[in-house]
Amino acid sequence: MMFHQPVMIEETLGMLNVKQNGTYVDATVGLGGHAYGILSRLGGDGRIVGMDRDDNALKIAFERLGNKRVHLAKGSFSSMDRILASFGVMEFDGVVFDLGLSMMQLKDLGRGFSFNSTERLDMRMDQEQSLSAWDVVNRYQEKALEKILREYGEERLALKIAKAVVSKRKQAAIDTCAELAETVSAVYGYRGKIHPATRTFQALRIEVNRELDELGKGLSAAASGLRNGGRVCVISYHSLEDRIVKNFIRDGAKSGVLRNLTKKPLTPRLEEIKKNPASRSAKLRGAEKI
Ligand SMILES: C[S@@+](CC[C@H](N)C(=O)[O-])C[C@H]1O[C@@H](n2cnc3c(N)ncnc32)[C@H](O)[C@@H]1O
Repeated sequence: MMFHQPVMIEETLGMLNVKQNGTYVDATVGLGGHAYGILSRLGGDGRIVGMDRDDNALKIAFERLGNKRVHLAKGSFSSMDRILASFGVMEFDGVVFDLGLSMMQLKDLGRGFSFNSTERLDMRMDQEQSLSAWDVVNRYQEKALEKILREYGEERLALKIAKAVVSKRKQAAIDTCAELAETVSAVYGYRGKIHPATRTFQALRIEVNRELDELGKGLSAAASGLRNGGRVCVISYHSLEDRIVKNFIRDGAKSGVLRNLTKKPLTPRLEEIKKNPASRSAKLRGAEKI
């Protein structure tokens, strides 16, 4: 499962249009799947810089990609400029963002991302960061909680859930993922096909990891570092991310900096979704620097 097929790999590599001797950036190297695909298309003078906020993912990527043409570093893609500069890279021919969580983060015990688990609420991609989901759930004021649930979870019961969380934690801290999931389920009072806590967990993850802010900054850094003719490819997994990517490309096209390569986002083929259900919400968009 670790080395499962990376999401939309053929589509991404095709869109990147990898040049043999080019320099490529994998902004979310994860377990190294996309980087490995790029590496297999590069010639002797080509190179890759990969980054990730997650130490555990990087360790696996190091093992898998160990190659003198691959440079890997721990860090956020919002600081891409600094990371690239540390390897002497000032511009590049292509960059990939595969947003969201790696399989390992989802399945790894102790990371506190999954609502079925009795793990402590955590959700930090970077385990050196101090803010965790526990802090948000147990320390944020009701108003702030409601705002996050509404904006980042697009949760229609944001106010009710925020109130339920605050009243529950007055009795005792909400420590585990399962406790939070139960609190949210009780507000809904029923269970449909999708777990009622799905949107709450998405909202917390976005808040803890500052995901939308990161994405905006990462995309700007990508646009300024790309060589003319270079391409940026982004795979996103929920509508808030996709909107940011779409607007970024639209604005870049308006100001004559980017050419939109995907009027409509590409989505995985049915066979891929069957093999890897986690890919079902993926949307791939791309643009070329002009
Ligand atoms: C879906 S996984 C990438 C999987 C990878 N493409 C592969 O084929 O193995 C997303 C990765 O992005 C990382 N990540 C998310 N936000 C990040 C950010 N702002 N900066 C750096 N890495 C980030 C996560 O830690 C995770 O490992």
